Amino acid sequence: MNFQLTEEHLAVRDAAREFTQSELLPGVIERDTEARFPKEQIQKMGELGFMGMMVDPKYNGGGMDTISYVLAMEEISKIDASASVSMSVNNSLVCWGLEKYGTEEQKEKYLKPLASGEILGAFCLSEPEAGSDATSQRTEARLEGDHYVLNGTKNWITNGSSASVYLVIAQTDPSKGHKGISVFIVERGWEGFIIGKKEDKLGIRGSDTHSLMFNDVKVPVENRIGAEGFGFTFAMETLNGGRIGIAAQALGIAAGAYELALAYSKERKAFGKPISQHQAIQFKLADMATQIEAARMLVYKAAWLKDQDEDYAHASAMAKLYASEVAMNVTVEAVQVHGGYGYVKEYHVERLMRDAKITQIYEGTSEIQKIVISRGILR
Ligand code: CAA
Repeated sequence: MNFQLTEEHLAVRDAAREFTQSELLPGVIERDTEARFPKEQIQKMGELGFMGMMVDPKYNGGGMDTISYVLAMEEISKIDASASVSMSVNNSLVCWGLEKYGTEEQKEKYLKPLASGEILGAFCLSEPEAGSDATSQRTEARLEGDHYVLNGTKNWITNGSSASVYLVIAQTDPSKGHKGISVFIVERGWEGFIIGKKEDKLGIRGSDTHSLMFNDVKVPVENRIGAEGFGFTFAMETLNGGRIGIAAQALGIAAGAYELALAYSKERKAFGKPISQHQAIQFKLADMATQIEAARMLVYKAAWLKDQDEDYAHASAMAKLYASEVAMNVTVEAVQVHGGYGYVKEYHVERLMRDAKITQIYEGTSEIQKIVISRGILR
């Protein structure tokens, strides 16, 4: 067993770290306060190759492995989880499925600009009444000659108003349950496609989360990915990889909060010495560091399994379940280490604490991860 990162991995991590310090850290508090999408920053992330990291270079991607992706996600999430969720959705939920299951024409037309970061993608599965219960899709696509007519509403869509390309999961034959679900590529601006309200969220406030409405949107047959009925499997497989990205995000949020708490504990004095010299704080730091390291092992292992072409559904659910719990615990403790300063925006940890919560909810709640894990165990 080799725990050593390669030179290439370290270079990716350093590049991401440098980018966060020069481009993401300045203004992150204001973007959070104003719920402002990091548009220019995401554009630069595209130019640096962070938006299609694992895509084959022939489709404008970086041709990197999942470990590299996880390292970059971790670094970016330490500073700005709103930027990293956009990155995660584009890489894991949009580019991955298009590259694996798209036609050559779809890859030429959509994957290339998505992987280069020229445009952004969104993944549209959740609905007002189909969140965890993803088989209960109400959005419907009816075949009429050479196109489908799409009707329905999607909720909680990351990159909702910033994307140009949307992967939309919809029922094509309700009588077949989840085997009657298909997936379509929909372009922003098509007639009947309405971008609905923006959510005012607790955390990841810079991320652009919207509901979307489809009113008789005409989708050409050639924009279906895979066969009719393939949409649910497509969504589940896509989420298996997506959960590695979100697990890495949770890990980054935890590590970012821990690094701030560690630095603060060495500076802040109480009762005549730095608070890091008090056992109450030392025990907190020890617990935080241990939990983060354990989460890191699970996240890197899931990424490694994916890179080895092994089954990673179970491992990615475990990584997401545990890393998101760690993100919550560690950020709460980081605020505690900071005392009153932790409760104000200037010190960053309160934002990280708010950002942490979503990692236990999106791309499947913790309870959904436990379903996936227990099914793997009992199979
Ligand atoms: N990987 C591959 N296939 C899977 C799978 C997985 N993890 N989970 C289920 N499947 C397959 C099953 O094998 C089965 O296939 P067959 O019929 O061919 O045998 C099929 O899917 C149906 O499976 P189930 O009978 O298990 O379906 P279910 O209704 O009991 O539950 C579930 C499935 C795991 C609960 C699923 O609904 C689920 O994952 N729900 C959570 C959805 C989710 O994560 N939503 C997140 C939205 S996206 C998002 O948040 C993005 C963002 O913006 C950040």
